Amino acid sequence: KIYPVILSGGAGTRLWPLSRAVLPKQLLPLVSDKTMLQDTALRVADWPDLMPPLVVCGNEHRFLVAEQLRECGITPLGILLEPVGRNTAPAVAAAAHYLKGVDPDAVMLVLPADHVIKNIPAFKEAVTRAARMVEDGGLATFGIVPTAPETGYGYIHRGAEMSACADCYRVDRFVEKPNKDTAEQFLADGGYYWNSGMFLFKAERYLSELVQFNPGIAAAAETAMQKGYRDLDFCRLDEASFAACPSDSIDYAVMEKTKHAVVVPADIGWSDVGSWSALWEVQQGDERGNVTRGDVYLDGVTNSLVRAESRIVAVVGVEDLVVVETNDAVLVAHKDQVQRVKQVVDHLKSQD
Ligand code: GDD
Ligand code: MG
Repeated sequence: KIYPVILSGGAGTRLWPLSRAVLPKQLLPLVSDKTMLQDTALRVADWPDLMPPLVVCGNEHRFLVAEQLRECGITPLGILLEPVGRNTAPAVAAAAHYLKGVDPDAVMLVLPADHVIKNIPAFKEAVTRAARMVEDGGLATFGIVPTAPETGYGYIHRGAEMSACADCYRVDRFVEKPNKDTAEQFLADGGYYWNSGMFLFKAERYLSELVQFNPGIAAAAETAMQKGYRDLDFCRLDEASFAACPSDSIDYAVMEKTKHAVVVPADIGWSDVGSWSALWEVQQGDERGNVTRGDVYLDGVTNSLVRAESRIVAVVGVEDLVVVETNDAVLVAHKDQVQRVKQVVDHLKSQD
């Protein structure tokens, strides 16, 4: 059986000032009238092959997460709470231990809570194909055809086609976040995909690879789960053991190192909505290419994203702008420069 595991842990700092530590992007209605967590959970609901989701999130977000799931009619298998963030390798390890307790043969479908997938039938088809590979111990990734030498993604070089499944490939090489020159070289060479950050594997298999490549994380996550306890609808990981866990991403800790990775190319209308310009891109703008939300007045504006949370925002005679108003901060940026929002957040943090 396949169990969706929804990772809801990041801070989404590049979507400041809307996305904050207390209310990160996955818990906000950014793309639709539902939050990204709700869209993620609904995407895998009512699908005969799939069990209810296990959500992994920070302790501080537990009530928001539980409430948002309830609001959209999802009864999760569980909500697993991290006392501190230790990145995705430990989060997935803890989830794997949880699932093994439910079903020793559990297959987990790891899903970030903050991605957009427009083509749901194609996504389902990709998961179905990946499922054929994990039975033999494969760790499946979903590959996106790259459109630019982005340095914020993992790159997957495909190897031989799998006999079990047409258009599924062995992973020849997995390179997490290469530098610009390397990314450009990958695009020129061809045969590379972006790692979408979604994975499908047997819980048992992920854990055995983790033990091999990163025994420290494997041990700490196991202890945190063993010493963890139930609290209402939540499952709390033991604080001391989880805090002692090394911090690393699944990509560095396992996917770059395993010999059993496979890639399923997935043309699914995917975006990780990593910036305001990405958010503008995934949304259907009006006839002038503007994406707006809230009490907004526009005159002579094109290809812009304008959001008003608490006041009226008027924008006149500009193009390619991002304007985001909240009750305590306002962002105005050129749409091509929105990656620099991260520096704004770093600056503000350094002043705290
Ligand atoms: N529960 C939990 N706990 N979730 C976490 C944690 C954590 O400590 N850290 C991150 N997450 C969640 C984030 O909310 C996000 O949904 C997902 O895990 C991935 O984390 P990111 O921090 O956004 O990773 P990334 O964007 O740098 O890179 C990953 O995603 C890319 C695609 O978006 C990698 O998998 C790359 O290889 C990939 O290309
Ligand atoms: Mg990300």
